[in-house]
Amino acid sequence: MVRGLRHGELTTHPAHLHIDLLPVLQRRGLGSRLIDTLRAALAERDVPGVHLGYAAENVAARKFYDRYGFTELPSSTPTSPLLGIASS
Ligand SMILES: CC(C)(COP(=O)(O)OP(=O)(O)OC[C@H]1O[C@@H](n2cnc3c(N)ncnc32)[C@H](O)[C@@H]1OP(=O)(O)O)[C@@H](O)C(=O)NCCC(=O)NCCS
Repeated sequence: MVRGLRHGELTTHPAHLHIDLLPVLQRRGLGSRLIDTLRAALAERDVPGVHLGYAAENVAARKFYDRYGFTELPSSTPTSPLLGIASS
């Protein structure tokens, strides 16, 4: 669980995600495919959504998650950003 989750996000986005691909494996679509697979598996199990936190200075990660369709959760702050997305 990410520290700082409030506002009922553990009900709407109970799953937690972290991805850490080696540089040689980045920008090949693997991160997107991992999330596709996770969201489908969560949906099969009636888990409504997934949340994650990332370091505020990680601009590349934010671009990736924005592009994928994650949105900021109500508990997100500029220094402790929290994103979420519904299961597929
Ligand atoms: C961030 C991370 C999860 C993205 O996974 P990935 O497999 O590299 O990303 P994808 O190939 O699926 O990228 C999909 C799209 O996201 C965006 N994107 C991905 N990485 C990006 C980057 N470094 N800078 C800007 N946009 C990026 C692009 O729009 C990309 O599409 P494109 O390659 O056609 O332009 C992965 O690079 C990673 O593990 N990085 C190191 C650890 C980290 O920062 N983890 C996230 C913090 S929890």
